[in-house]
Amino acid sequence: MDAFESRTRRCQDRLPEVGADAAILFPSTNLFYASGFREEPMERHLFLVVPSEGDPVFVAPEMYDEQIRDASWVSDLRLWADGEDPMALVADLADELDLREGHLLADDTMWALFTQDLRETLPEASFGLASEVFDDLRLRKDDAELDALRRAGALADEVSVEIRSLGADAIGLTEADLADEIDRLLAERGGEGVSFETVVGSGPNGAKPHHRRSDREIEPGDPVVLDFGAYVNGYPGDQTRTVVFAGDPPEEYQAVHETVQSAQQAAVEAVEPGVPAEEIDRAAREVIEAAGYGDRFVHRTGHGVGLDVHEAPYIVAGNEVELESGMVFSVEPGVYLPGKFGVRIEDLVIVTEDGCERLNDSPRTWEALGE
Ligand code: CO
Repeated sequence: MDAFESRTRRCQDRLPEVGADAAILFPSTNLFYASGFREEPMERHLFLVVPSEGDPVFVAPEMYDEQIRDASWVSDLRLWADGEDPMALVADLADELDLREGHLLADDTMWALFTQDLRETLPEASFGLASEVFDDLRLRKDDAELDALRRAGALADEVSVEIRSLGADAIGLTEADLADEIDRLLAERGGEGVSFETVVGSGPNGAKPHHRRSDREIEPGDPVVLDFGAYVNGYPGDQTRTVVFAGDPPEEYQAVHETVQSAQQAAVEAVEPGVPAEEIDRAAREVIEAAGYGDRFVHRTGHGVGLDVHEAPYIVAGNEVELESGMVFSVEPGVYLPGKFGVRIEDLVIVTEDGCERLNDSPRTWEALGE
């Protein structure tokens, strides 16, 4: 059986367990996960209806006929032409599959435009979210997924080492220049597009965890937060290092970097099956609190990574989900001193039978690296 088909079958098995009669997907990573067909969200109506029994059905624009058949094992396509009413096809399908009064799980990222159409076309139905079945399925990665994630991790490592070898040559470049260079290297070495907009946060900009890039020039002694990754076989890399390309870092920087590095190490060492996700967050937070920077660690410790670069399990206080082998997530504590600098160190890890495997191994030190 096709890998995508077996995922769909597992999804179908779970639907009744959550009281649902069907999932209705929209171009998303869930739709790709189940069908093998990948497309960006768009204004045209395109659904994959996965009933709890029988075969899934695409309702799709006619222009996608060949593309979907090439990419997906799903062979039942109901096509509509521009100018026709796609919701009439949905209504017919609902009759055929007896879904008019059903409980339907809509894709979490489905645009309101389409959920509104579904509610109008199927007024007797009730709605939930596709994540009720997909989150759990997607938590544990299969071998092909793990292989892609390992390769994406190795790619981020390679580019990290190469960019750090710039040393003093990075001084005077803008954050945007450096981000462009990272993106170019990721593509050159086989990346299929960046996982998210590459982060280069120099000096005080590093204290904003979600700073992307600016025209600020990198100065000697600036700590620079470098957070980036690229897709390999559909799965993203995500790695962060904080480096000083040349010159003497600000006072306090070494101590902060050491704290974050120890916190990251403690959290990685805490990873093993059976441990609640929140314990990993606690392991990192304890180290940072003990060093007196607890109030400057302003985000959770990590996020799951799979087809989506942020997905379950979230490594955050209150998440009691127990870790299981095959889960993949980031471990990325940080300390942010507004107006001064920030430090974050991030690796992805796979939970194994007795601990974890790091997907990133480039040096976690802060100095530039020699050629
Ligand atoms: Co991350």
